[in-house]
Order: sequence, then C-alpha cells, then structure tokens
Amino acid sequence: MKLIAFSTSAALLLLSCQPSNEISEMDPLPHDPHSYADPAEAIVTDLFLNIFEVDFQTHVLHATATLTFECHDADTLRLDTYGLDIQDVRHMDEGMGEIPLRFAPGRQDPILGTELLIYPESAVNGIYSITIAYKTSPDAKALQWLAPEQTNGKTQPFLFTQSQAILARTWIPLQDSPGIRFTYSAKVQAPSGLMAVMSASNPTEIAEDGRYAFTMAQPIPSYLMALAIGDLRFQSTGPRTGVYAEPAFLEASAWEFAETEAMIKAAEALYGPYQWDRYDLLVLPPSFPFGGMENPRLTFLTPTVIAGDRSLVALIAHELAHSWSGNLVTNGTWNDFWINEGFTVYFENRIMEAVYGADYAAMLQALSYGELEAQVADFMHNAPNDTKLAIDLVGRNPDDGVTTIAYDKGFHFLRLVEQTVGREAFDVFLKDYFAQYTFKSMTTERFIAHVKSTLLADSQWEEIGGDAWIYGTGLPANCPQVDPILFAQVDAAATTFLTKGSLPDPADWNTHQWLRFMHAMDRLTEPQAQRLDQAFHFTQTGNAEIFAAWAVVATHAGMHNDDLDAKMSTFLVRVGRRKFLTPTYKALMDAGRQDFAVHVYAQARPGYHAVAQETLDKLLGL
Ligand code: BES
Ligand code: ZN
Repeated sequence: MKLIAFSTSAALLLLSCQPSNEISEMDPLPHDPHSYADPAEAIVTDLFLNIFEVDFQTHVLHATATLTFECHDADTLRLDTYGLDIQDVRHMDEGMGEIPLRFAPGRQDPILGTELLIYPESAVNGIYSITIAYKTSPDAKALQWLAPEQTNGKTQPFLFTQSQAILARTWIPLQDSPGIRFTYSAKVQAPSGLMAVMSASNPTEIAEDGRYAFTMAQPIPSYLMALAIGDLRFQSTGPRTGVYAEPAFLEASAWEFAETEAMIKAAEALYGPYQWDRYDLLVLPPSFPFGGMENPRLTFLTPTVIAGDRSLVALIAHELAHSWSGNLVTNGTWNDFWINEGFTVYFENRIMEAVYGADYAAMLQALSYGELEAQVADFMHNAPNDTKLAIDLVGRNPDDGVTTIAYDKGFHFLRLVEQTVGREAFDVFLKDYFAQYTFKSMTTERFIAHVKSTLLADSQWEEIGGDAWIYGTGLPANCPQVDPILFAQVDAAATTFLTKGSLPDPADWNTHQWLRFMHAMDRLTEPQAQRLDQAFHFTQTGNAEIFAAWAVVATHAGMHNDDLDAKMSTFLVRVGRRKFLTPTYKALMDAGRQDFAVHVYAQARPGYHAVAQETLDKLLGL
C-alpha cells in the first residue's frame, strides 16, 4: 500500500509544474520581525549557560552565557535582551586568552526589548565565542518566582520559566528567533535542598550541594529554553518516561500519566522515531499560565490536568506531539505559529485515536470545532484579520497570535487535506515531512510549496480553497465536521432539558461529554442553572475543566450565591492557567459583575505569571 501511495505522490510531483516566481522549499527564511538578530552575519550554534546564583530573596539570576557563533564577515553581533543587566562581554581566544569586548544597547522596543550590540576586535569569519556576564531583572517576564505559600508543600520557594514566544531574552541574552537553533549545556547552582530541572538531560535526585549540570545535544530554538527549581521528586513511569512533582503530587501524577509510554509508541508508529531520548513530565504549581509547554525532554504541565480519572490526558498527547511538530519541524517565525499548533492538534488527535479509539477522538474533534466556530464568530466582529492562519504579527506581540485559530482552524484545515487525499497518502506525506525537515524551519510558504510539489496538484489545491483557508478570513464552508456517537445522547439530553425541563440521566458521562453539555447551556435562566447545580453539584466539582465551564454558564445565567462566589474566587486566586481565567473574568464582566471581578483580580494578580497578568490587565481595562 505504501508503494501505491508513493507512486501517486510521485505522479503528482510530475503533474504539478510550478511557475518560476513561486516560493520554493529551499528559499531562505524571511526576516523574523520579532528578533534583532541578523543570522546571515552571525548565527548562534551553541550556548553554555552558567547560573551561579539563584536569588529567591531579590528574584534575580546571576549568570554567564557563553555563545558560539558561526560568522560571515561579522563586525557586530546582535542579540535580543529584555531587562537584562549586562555586566561584561569577553571573547575567549585560544592564543591570547580572554579579551574584553565593547558592547552597547542598540534599538529598543516595548515588545521586543533591547538590542545588545557586541563589537569583536575586527570583523570575524567562522567560529567565534563570547561570554556575557549578566543578571536578570526582578520582573523578568519569563520567570515566575513563587513564595513557599504558593506551592503545595508551603515550605520551599519555587521558580519556573516560560520562554515561548519571545521571553527567553528576559533571562538569557541570545538570538531569540524560532528560525535559529543551537545545542546547549548548563550549570545551575540552586539553593541546597532544591532540585533544578531543564529542557535537557535531568537529575532524578536532589543534589546535597545544589549543583546541577545539563546537556541538550539536539539543536533547539530559544523558545524551548526552560528551567524549574523547587522541592521536586522524580518517579519513573516507564522505560523512558517519568514525572517530576512536589512530593504530595508525585503519586497522583504518576498514576494520571501512566499511559504516556503507550502514547509515545502510538506517535512513533505514525510519524517516526521519538528523537529526544527521554520524555518526562514536570507538574508545576497551579499558577503555571498554560495547560502545557513542550519543553524538549521535559513537558511543563499545569496540575489542573490531574482530574483523578485520566480524562484530561489529551494534553499530554498534545505536548508529546510537539516533539515532532514544533520541536523537530519548527515554525519559521511567529507569523507561522499555526505550523506548530495546527499540526500538533492534528497529531494529538491521531495519538488519542490510536490509544483511546476513534469515538473518543471524534469527541475531541467536535469540541475543537465548537471552539473554532465561537472564536471565528467573535473575531469576525472585531478583528477579522486575526482569523487568518497566516497572521501578520509585525509590530504586535506574538502572544496575540495564541488563539484557537492557529490551533483549531489549523487542525481542521489539515483534516480537510487528509480527507482530500485519503488517510494513507496523508500519513505517508506527514512521516516524510517530519523526516525531511527534522531540525529545520517551516514557514507557511514553504509548507504550501511542499504540499504542492508532493501531495496536491494545483487544481486540487484550488478545489479545496487552499489559499482561502490560509490567507483568508473566517471559516470556509468546506470545513470538515463530525457528529460523534458519544455526543448523541448528550445533545439529546441538553435539548430535552432546555425545552422540557427534565434533567439528564448522565450515568457515566465522561469529562468531554459534560463539557459538550455545558457548552449547550450558554443561555440558561437563573432557576435552570440552580436546578442543574442542585442535581449535579458543578460548583463543588474538583475537575478544573468542568468547573471553569460551569463558572461561565452559571455567571451568564445570572446565578450568584455565596457558595459559587467563594468557589470562583478560590479558583481564580489559586489557578493561573490563562485558558480558564480569561473566559471566567470575561463572563463576570459581561454579566455586569465588574466589581466582583476587579475585587478577586486584586487578590489574585500577584500570584499570576506575567503573561496572564498582561492578558487580564487588558481584559479588565486596567
Ligand atoms: N506551546 C503551547 C503553549 C504556548 C503557546 C505558550 C504560545 C506560549 C506561547 C502548548 O503546546 C499549548 O498549546 N498548550 C495548550 C494545550 C492545549 C491546546 C492542549 C494550553 O496551554 O492550553
Ligand atoms: Zn501546543
């Protein structure tokens, strides 16, 4: 069968003759509008990071970064920094020893930070290394410093980083562009008694002296630089998998994520070998602003996925899938973000299908479609251009591109391509794609050129409206849909409740079925909301996904009682996951409960990570 698929694509290759002005797969990367680096002159190939002091009192890292460049007649080295205090720059010369170099701040921008200009003694060619001594600012956006009270154990402080998209520059001076890859090694001197872990080879025991060493032998883009320090323990869950968590969370985490090895096997069977050696999970304190972050070898996770029933593990499939889409084949610039996330949601769904079955995967597709529809409807009113897959983020914060468009419109476009060529041909194509572009950058234009030369004839591309999908606004009419069998009774029960008032009989509904039900309840009356809560105790649920969805439904229904208010306020103060915070605060504002929202936010804000603070400051008009 493989042979047939291959010969079909080979035939297509012959058929599709490209006009010469089209972008080819080999063209150089476009300029990255979110970096000051000039990779044509000098490109970083390796980093040695030495963090010799982690100061939990002043919230400062003291470090040196040794960068190795490959230079082409470079008289200036341009780096990205944001709020870094640069103390000293030296070049290590084999013969002459250490030579101090002149350096100066260059261009400046509120989003991009400060360009750091470094002047070698004379224009350099070939390999050139420098060491930068610096310290970070107490409000470095990538770093979240947690007081002991903000952890589960309440006795030790905690530090974690979040570098994506352009925050690596707030804790390391480097070329902070996804199109530039480097290997790295690091030394970290942590306070004794704490464990340090990175997106690299990791310890499994606490070192008495607090000294740790790390290596990442595969070249990675800067946004995958990651570090966490805290009262962490390790538990193995398989031959190449394990979990890191605070002691009290360790066992629950190991149980919840015990199926990770099965997911890796499923992923490998689909698109080729896992290339990063180990795959471990780090369960962070609840202020972590995302569901997960695909730091290589060590996915960073919110503890809100520990539902006690493994019902939220699609998030693990998602972060694992990034080990191919994103970490092997990386979006060229942040304008190509859908290349990372759209492919990853598609791949995530395939892993879930392989491990949990097609009916389960269909539920996830339908939830994704629902979110996509809602997001598109909302954006078409106030920001239609943000519904484009190929988004233009020049002059904007790349965080503006982190919407369900990249994820779910990207996913549905790939489903459409799959349906057009058939799953078998699409799988051959994807496996090839990951092999051919391993450790390379992928732009939207490169991808289109690649599709047209290996998978779809120009006429097919036109038939499915490829350009409209990628460069157009809104959701094209040929968007694939699903009607999951596992949602049939949920939809029926929702309709019956809304029209006749009889309560559903959800004997064994899973989390996704409840979420589907909840989404159908977006226009409840207050008494209807009360009845549901009396019957199903949503206000008391320990499942963060269900609680967050319920908080929105109940608030829209105008329900507020002391119990719900107390639960919402505890949730909003404890959990910093932006995906839950944004809709909940928004619902409160929409329901005219601005006073309550602002009151809770005043309490909660100091505990949020900078990226969540930025989003919510805007939402609440502060
Ligand atoms: N890489 C993203 C998180 C991210 C994107 C951080 C852009 C900063 C900038 C991660 O893989 C992700 O998509 N997380 C989702 C998971 C979900 C879609 C399963 C999240 O955090 O909700
Ligand atoms: Zn992702």
